[in-house]
Amino acid sequence: MGYDLIQPEEGELASGLTGYGRMAEPDTIFNRILSKFETQTDLAGKKIIVTAGPTHEYIDRVRYISNPSSGKMGFELARAASVRGANVVLISGPVGLPDIQDVKRINVVSADEMLSKIQENLIGTDVVIMSAAVEDLKPVSPVKEKIKKDKLNDRFSIDFEKTVDILHYLGKHKEGFKLIGFAVETENTVDNARRKLETKNLDMIVLNNPNEKGAGFRTDTNIVTLITSSEELKLQIMSKYQVANAILDKLLLMR
Ligand code: CTP
Repeated sequence: MGYDLIQPEEGELASGLTGYGRMAEPDTIFNRILSKFETQTDLAGKKIIVTAGPTHEYIDRVRYISNPSSGKMGFELARAASVRGANVVLISGPVGLPDIQDVKRINVVSADEMLSKIQENLIGTDVVIMSAAVEDLKPVSPVKEKIKKDKLNDRFSIDFEKTVDILHYLGKHKEGFKLIGFAVETENTVDNARRKLETKNLDMIVLNNPNEKGAGFRTDTNIVTLITSSEELKLQIMSKYQVANAILDKLLLMR
């Protein structure tokens, strides 16, 4: 079987000095191990854009509106696609997750910025997977500096407007790439997800219900149903990495 050596890296050392000899990041070690055991290279030659995490829509210099997305599902999709040979561009909102080896990561903050980075990277793309939990609302008039508390009454309101629906925009301008969206639904789950599949012109929608134990935002597992125009496939609870591979398997079966 032989062996493979993961070299140490340069950086801050336990001694307090900086130099060569630091243990490789656990994520780097994990990816190298995965790619050794992963024999499938069925996505070689494909370019895939994956979005991940929440977006932050700023109210003033220091405050924003957002949601609790951790970005884990998107990062696992990027990791799995890359291990299977794809050229992956990961466009991520603010999350606390490390970079993934061989994946080009672009960090963004707002929904507008996420859309413009997708547009910049769209040439030659075969698949766009929108797993980001794009925040639905943004303040109509964000304030540049910090709003001082003594300038506010005890009760006050902020005007919000909808952010750009990136998935809808991509569905309208879909040319030469497949489009996969996610749906978070708590009621009439399949019907609502299927409606999104149709109105947003998607090839697949990944439905999850955060009310199910083991599914949702900050967990390491997920329970999803993969929905296409002709099929519904409800999967068991599994790790987000396994869910990512199931999505990619399904994608490859679609022509
Ligand atoms: N999405 C998007 N742009 C937005 C909001 C969401 O591209 N401004 C994408 C998400 O990345 C996800 C999909 O839309 O792939 C579905 O998100 P979801 O929150 O379930 O649905 P919404 O379309 O926002 O509708 P609703 O909140 O009414 O269910």
